[in-house]
Amino acid sequence: MTLDTAQLNQQRMPFDDDAELWLFGYGSLIWKAEFPYLERHPAYIHHWARRFWQGSHDHRGTPASPGRVVTLINEPGATCQGMAYRINASTLHALDIREKNGYLRELITLHFADGSHAEGLIYLATEENAAFLGAAPLDAVVEQIATAYGPSGSNRDYLRHLATALEELGAEDAHVFTLAAHVRSRDKSDSLISSEQSPCH
Ligand code: BEZ
Repeated sequence: MTLDTAQLNQQRMPFDDDAELWLFGYGSLIWKAEFPYLERHPAYIHHWARRFWQGSHDHRGTPASPGRVVTLINEPGATCQGMAYRINASTLHALDIREKNGYLRELITLHFADGSHAEGLIYLATEENAAFLGAAPLDAVVEQIATAYGPSGSNRDYLRHLATALEELGAEDAHVFTLAAHVRSRDKSDSLISSEQSPCH
């Protein structure tokens, strides 16, 4: 199911194309910044937790077999680390299309390592959007991520890239690292089973 939020985003939060603004990436935007930016810095936001709770029917899965990608869940006391990009607002046109499956622009306070802060944009998929999946048992989420595949590639690669990018940032994220470890160990036990089943010559 796809809720196309691209047009909605441009209507509900318009910017002049030549305006400059901060964009906070907490998912693929951390490691897949295929857009022009003026500068970027690691940053974090308070009271939000990254969760693999959004369905992906258009990037890391299909309508018949959706993958799971991240969104942010309001959680008092939580910190979510990511990457802040200083961009021209014209860049949002392409991002609105890339993140059109249920993500809405929201304004939020970003914090930088030097103690400064600034207002910036996030793309947020709330439980009101049609592609929202929410929490599920760990085994089910691992199986879904390990097997889903869409036009942007495999869901497992999305998880792996995100976990690596967060490690490189020195970020703490038990949710992401636990999922990545479980997908890895599922792969190891699968290859053990298939090597045990292959005939000896
Ligand atoms: C992000 O990296 O912040 C992001 C990527 C895709 C959709 C929403 C957010």
